[in-house]
Amino acid sequence: MGGMPAPSTATLQAALATVNDPEIRKPITELGMVEAVDVSDTGHVRVTVLLTVPGCPMKDTITRDVTRAVGAVEGVTGVDVQLGVMSDEQRSGLRQQLRGGAPEKEIPFARPDSLTTVYAVASGKGGVGKSSVTVNLAAALAQEGLRVGVVDADIYGFSVPRMLGVTQPPTQVDDMILPPVAEPGGVPVKVISIGMFVPGNQPVVWRGPMLHRAMQQFLADVYWGDLDVLLLDLPPGTGDIAITVAQLLPSSELIVVTTPQQAAAEVAERAGAIALQTHQRLVGVIENMSWLELPDGSRQEIFGSGGGQAVADSLSRSIGADVPLLGQVPLDVTLREGGDQGRPVVVGSPDSPAATALRGIARQLARRGRGLAGRKLAITPTLSR
Ligand SMILES: Nc1ncnc2c1ncn2[C@@H]1O[C@H](COP(=O)(O)OP(=O)(O)O)[C@@H](O)[C@H]1O
Ligand SMILES: [Mg+2]
Repeated sequence: MGGMPAPSTATLQAALATVNDPEIRKPITELGMVEAVDVSDTGHVRVTVLLTVPGCPMKDTITRDVTRAVGAVEGVTGVDVQLGVMSDEQRSGLRQQLRGGAPEKEIPFARPDSLTTVYAVASGKGGVGKSSVTVNLAAALAQEGLRVGVVDADIYGFSVPRMLGVTQPPTQVDDMILPPVAEPGGVPVKVISIGMFVPGNQPVVWRGPMLHRAMQQFLADVYWGDLDVLLLDLPPGTGDIAITVAQLLPSSELIVVTTPQQAAAEVAERAGAIALQTHQRLVGVIENMSWLELPDGSRQEIFGSGGGQAVADSLSRSIGADVPLLGQVPLDVTLREGGDQGRPVVVGSPDSPAATALRGIARQLARRGRGLAGRKLAITPTLSR
């Protein structure tokens, strides 16, 4: 063949160095994202690029930019981009590099001897009452005498501070963040939210590594003190945050919130099924908005029925362990009002039907107790990040 000589690896590396990671905005070659470059005799190039997280939303952009840059090199007859995902080690190396070598702080709740029970509250979709459930469980557990913290990890829809009536910003002491303390019913609940770090009502547009960094900070730089329970209000769905939480806190346990509606139940199931990949324990399912109690004492099932039990049954089958329906919380005006006023219904209207149901769930959680007994050993999630 009288064709051009195949391009050299150095030329190809130079071409790849012009491709930036769209989020970190640094050359992919510097970030250790180029795992391999192979050239065939005919000038066909195969580039293996490692993404920082699986299902990275930027993967199409990266593929396109790499194809374009390498395709422009003289002698290249074809480009084939293979995508992989960084290993835990590679990712922590990258984080270290981005931090300029400063060591990452330890997350106290991730220590094998941590006595704090961490519950991540998940849902398939938004608006099912995940945050309402989280703040009420926090308030109810605090009333049971437990030391409670809440992380509002719903980066796009943060609402926990408002629901707990927290208006003061966190205090910064050196490199430590002191969380504001809510006092629902006079008992303290420590709260931190992404909402406290963005001015006004600005939307948060972080993704991937930035989200991971934010969560890492919430958990490591915030001074939580000794907590019995930490509740995390996750964003709806099975996105980056859910995976990040599983990675940063492998022993965190999932609580799934759903409405009785079948469609909602199906998406809730997917949110719960993530536990299969992350090896998180599933504590149970909470059905919210189960019915409306009418003045005559009858129940109107506005959103249908059976969703919570269906999710619990289906998750029990798929993980092969009992996932109980922890409770059914009725529709209740006092719950909504309590959220709007920053006074959770369990303390604001403790005798209302919703408060009674939520307290019942909190008691079940409190009974599970504190400490390592019966706790599954922390297993590193198999899911590669
Ligand atoms: N059981 C309930 N009864 C009445 N209103 C509820 C109930 N659960 C949630 N709400 C209301 O529904 C809206 C969505 O709830 P929220 O907790 O913000 O959901 P999510 O966090 O899942 O998006 C809020 O206005 C909340 O006050
Ligand atoms: Mg919410």
